[in-house]
Amino acid sequence: MATALITGASSGIGLEMAKLLDRAGHRVILVARSREVLDALACTMSDAMVVAVDLASSDGPSLVAASVGSVDILINNAGFGDVGPFARSESDLQASMIQVNCTALTSLTRTFLPGMLERGHGKILNIASTAAFQAGPGMAVYFATKAYVLSFTEAISEEIRGSGVTATAFCPGAFASGFQRVAGAERTRLVSGRNLPESKDVAKQALLAMNRGDVVSVPGLTNKFGAVATRFTPRPLLRRIAKRITEVT
Ligand SMILES: NC(=O)c1ccc[n+]([C@@H]2O[C@H](COP(=O)([O-])OP(=O)(O)OC[C@H]3O[C@@H](n4cnc5c(N)ncnc54)[C@H](OP(=O)(O)O)[C@@H]3O)[C@@H](O)[C@H]2O)c1
Repeated sequence: MATALITGASSGIGLEMAKLLDRAGHRVILVARSREVLDALACTMSDAMVVAVDLASSDGPSLVAASVGSVDILINNAGFGDVGPFARSESDLQASMIQVNCTALTSLTRTFLPGMLERGHGKILNIASTAAFQAGPGMAVYFATKAYVLSFTEAISEEIRGSGVTATAFCPGAFASGFQRVAGAERTRLVSGRNLPESKDVAKQALLAMNRGDVVSVPGLTNKFGAVATRFTPRPLLRRIAKRITEVT
């Protein structure tokens, strides 16, 4: 039985991936801040462990590392965004976003990857976003964190190619979850009036990409087209399109 550690398992695709992994017979380690939600979820599962931790704190990742042994599947999913002009944003919030979206993800990968390489098997799934493919005026730090996740994951996937361990950057477009409320994105063009995919469907696609060992996976035709189009679209135009998308309607 494989052990899967999922950060951000209390909501959205993290919660849905945790359920799917439990149903597939894996032992799951559920990580997030909301202890009560995680405890309730763990009670519905056959073999689950809860690590309630704030990944925005500098010792968050080491607390996770100290609480668990080896893992076969590491899913760095915890993350959040924030809508609004950078100059008016809260600097503490932006620092926490970089800590959760980038630093904790990097630290947990550094903790668990060496053991996977020694054993010659393992899977890492890092949740990026279509935001990774261009700059995001109106969500400047969030888009930049996702560009980091994509670049970092591609780089390590090449370093470990042929080792039996894979690293996947999963890059979904907007989907329905707690993300929109937390980011204050509910009234932006990104979300408003759109029929967003459900977390449970996106979670299935994420696990399929991880199990295939895809290095970069962009689910859905429109998202795929958008990601490819960023390579051929002049950058000034891309910036203007992204700014329009993150504006409140
Ligand atoms: N929804 C979208 O449109 C969308 C699109 C592309 C990519 N993504 C990415 O998908 C991933 C999952 O997000 P989601 O959409 O499923 O959002 P969500 O429903 O808001 O879930 C976010 C998860 O991250 C956890 N988290 C946030 N801050 C944390 C912290 N400081 N310490 C520990 N855990 C923390 C939350 O748990 P607690 O609050 O309990 O700590 C929650 O479980 C994120 O990386 C997000 O950037 C989302």
